[in-house]
Amino acid sequence: MTTAIIYATTHGTTEKVALRMQHLLGDQNSLMINLKNIKNVDLKQYDKIIIGGSIHAGMLQKSVKGFINKNKDELLQKPLGLFICGMNVPEYQAQIERAFPESLRKHAKSVKVAGGEFLFDKMNLFQKIIVRKISGIKESVSKIDDKKIEEFIKEFND
Ligand SMILES: Cc1cc2nc3c(=O)[nH]c(=O)nc-3n(C[C@H](O)[C@H](O)[C@H](O)COP(=O)(O)O)c2cc1C
Repeated sequence: MTTAIIYATTHGTTEKVALRMQHLLGDQNSLMINLKNIKNVDLKQYDKIIIGGSIHAGMLQKSVKGFINKNKDELLQKPLGLFICGMNVPEYQAQIERAFPESLRKHAKSVKVAGGEFLFDKMNLFQKIIVRKISGIKESVSKIDDKKIEEFIKEFND
């Protein structure tokens, strides 16, 4: 059984989470697909699909949204897992609901927020100002939720 982990990442955190998932799945059974590099994914090649992205200003990346819209019918035919990375804990549920269509959330074996990071060395000036103003956080911080990642893979494998 081959799993495709299809994702977009702005500062690398979603990619880190995807790698941890790949490790838990078993490296030989899964393949990472960064939507920045590969635009046309042939889903027929994969038995199971994981889709992930991160939230910026309340929204999931456009590349992930576009991929989902284009492939929705096929995604409904396969075992599916959906995750986002984000730092605004009170908004997690609303952001998940905005990120993925209800039909896919209901179909998915697991839907989770895997935590996130603020990486100031990777932000441009505008991003630094926004993050400082909205979150009050001024230094890089990692809140990747390994427990949620483990739960996600457990549910996905069930
Ligand atoms: C400019 C900016 C805006 C952000 N807006 C949100 C937000 O609205 N909600 C949220 O939960 N996290 C927000 N975050 C946190 C990101 O989701 C977090 O940094 C995530 O780990 C990024 O993952 P990535 O590097 O894979 O893109 C924001 C981060 C930045 C830099």
